[in-house]
Amino acid sequence: MTETENVSRRDFVKMAGAAIGGVALGAVGGYSLIPPKETIVTNEVEVEVEVPQEVPEHPWTYVKLDVDAVKARAYDAYFNGGCCYGVYEGVIGELKETVGFPYTTIPTKISVFGKGGIMGWGATCGVLTGAGMAINVVTTDLAPVNEIMGWYTEEALPIYTPVVALKVEGDIPTSVSGSPLCHASVTNWSNLTGFAENAPERAERCARLVADTAGKVAEMLNDQHDGTFTAAFAVPDSVIECGACHGADGPVNNVFGKMDCETCHGDAHN
Ligand code: HEC
Ligand code: HEC
Repeated sequence: MTETENVSRRDFVKMAGAAIGGVALGAVGGYSLIPPKETIVTNEVEVEVEVPQEVPEHPWTYVKLDVDAVKARAYDAYFNGGCCYGVYEGVIGELKETVGFPYTTIPTKISVFGKGGIMGWGATCGVLTGAGMAINVVTTDLAPVNEIMGWYTEEALPIYTPVVALKVEGDIPTSVSGSPLCHASVTNWSNLTGFAENAPERAERCARLVADTAGKVAEMLNDQHDGTFTAAFAVPDSVIECGACHGADGPVNNVFGKMDCETCHGDAHN
C-alpha cells in the first residue's frame, strides 16, 4: 500500500469512527468509548478488526466509579507494586475496566517509583503521588490534589477493612500523620503502636491506607463530576502565623509551603 492510500484510508476510517461514536455508541467528550470496527479482507476472508483510535487530548473524560471497587482494587494492588502504584492502579485500573479506551493505553506500573516516599526515601507518601497522578489524568482542576494532601495529614488512618486481609487479619490501629511525608507518617504510627517499621502490621496498615486514599480520590472525582465537590482543608495555623513574616508578603520572604511548620521547627522563636 502506498503512503497516500494509507493516509486516506486512515482518514476515512477516522471519520466513520467519529460518526459511529457520535450517533450510535454515545460519544463521551468527543471520542468513542467503544472502539469503532472495520471489516477488512485477509486471505479472502472478511474479518472485523478494531480501528486504532488516536489518544485524546488531556484531560480524559471521567466516568463515575464505584468507590468500594476502587478501594478493593487499590488494596490488592499495594501487594503487587507498593503504595503509589496501589492508588494509581485502584483508580486508573477501575477506569480501564469500566470505560476501556483510552484508559487501557496507560501502563499503571509507571507509578511504582513512588513507593516509600519515592524509592524508600521517606519523602512524600506514595499514596499522595499516586493520587495526584490519577486525578491529573482526568481533570485540570487540581483542587482535589490539594484536598487529599490535607486530608491525609489530618485524618486518623487507616479506616478500610478488607474483606480478605492479605497480610494481617483484624483491626489495625490508626494514627494521624500530621505530615504528608512517608517518614513522619510511618514513624508516628510505629511509635504510637509499637510495631516496627518492617513489621507485617505496618505493611497491612499501608495497604489499608492505600485503599482509603484511592477511595477518597474516587469520591472526590465523583463529586467533581456531579459539580458537588467542595474543598474542606484549611492550612494549619502555623503556616499563616509563621508565613506572616517568612511568606510572600512578609519581611523575611524565604519560605513557601503548606506543611505544618511546627512539626519540624517547633515554635521556632520561643
Ligand atoms: C514576626 C516575624 C516572624 C515570625 C512570625 C516568625 N519568624 Fe522566623 N524569623 C524571623 C526573622 C526576622 C528571622 C531571622 C532571619 C534572618 O536572620 O535572615 C527568623 C528566622 C527563623 C529561622 C532561622 C533562624 C532560627 O531561629 O533558627 C527559623 C527556622 C524560623 N525563623 C522559623 C519560624 C517559624 C517556624 C515560625 C512560626 C512558628 C516563625 N519563624 C515565625 C521572623 C519571624
Ligand atoms: C518537614 C520538616 C519541615 C517543615 C514542615 C518545615 N520546615 Fe523549615 N526547614 C526544614 C529544614 C530541614 C530546613 C533546612 C535547615 C538547614 O539546612 O539548616 C528548614 C529551613 C527553614 C528556614 C531557614 C532556617 C535557617 O537556618 O535559616 C526557615 C526560616 C524555615 N525553615 C521556616 C519554615 C516555616 C515557616 C515552615 C512552615 C511553613 C517550615 N519551615 C516548615 C524543615 C521543615
